[in-house]
Amino acid sequence: MSDSISPVRTRELVTHSAEETVAFGRELARDLPRPCLILLEGDLGSGKTTLTKGIVAGLGAAREEDVTSPSFTLVQEYGGSPRVFHADLYRIESGRELSSLGLDDLLSADAIVIVEWGEKLWDNAPAPQVVIQMEHVSSEERRIAVERFDNS
Ligand SMILES: Nc1ncnc2c1ncn2[C@@H]1O[C@H](COP(=O)(O)OP(=O)(O)OP(=O)(O)O)[C@@H](O)[C@H]1O
Ligand SMILES: [Mg+2]
Repeated sequence: MSDSISPVRTRELVTHSAEETVAFGRELARDLPRPCLILLEGDLGSGKTTLTKGIVAGLGAAREEDVTSPSFTLVQEYGGSPRVFHADLYRIESGRELSSLGLDDLLSADAIVIVEWGEKLWDNAPAPQVVIQMEHVSSEERRIAVERFDNS
C-alpha cells in the first residue's frame, strides 16, 4: 500500500477473553463501508479467526460457530447481503497463487472481504479500508489495534 495513505481513525484495546474479542468484532461490523477489505495481521493464535467470528456474525452472514479458519479452502463465502468472504493466506506462497483467489473481483462485487495473514497482501491488492493488528499479551489477553482508512 502507498505510504501516502494514512489512517483516519485508530483504535487500540486489550480484550481479556475470546468472548470479548468476538463482541468487539460484532461492534466493528456495525460500521463498515461497502465494499470493504479488512486485513487481519498477527501471529498464530493471536485471535484473527475469533475476531472474524464476531464480524461475520455481526453482519448477519453466518453464526459464530460456523466461522472457522478457511486454511484449506483459502476463501470461504458466507451468506447474506452484502456478501462476506473470509480468506486465510497462511499457506499462500506466491503472487500467482494470490491472484488466483480473485480478491479484486470480490471487492468489485461490493462485498466485505476479511483476510487473515493480510500482511501477505500489501503490494498485491487494492488498498484496504481496515487493517487490524492482533498480539498476544498473555494466555487470555490480546491487544487489538484497528486502523481505518478513508479510501473507499
Ligand atoms: N482475548 C482473546 N481473544 C481472542 N482469542 C483468545 C483470547 N483469549 C484466548 N483466546 C484463544 O486464543 C485462540 C485464538 O485462535 P484463533 O484461531 O482465533 O487465532 P488466529 O489468529 O486465527 O490463528 P491462526 O494464525 O492459526 O489462523 C482461541 O483458542 C481462543 O479461544
Ligand atoms: Mg485463523
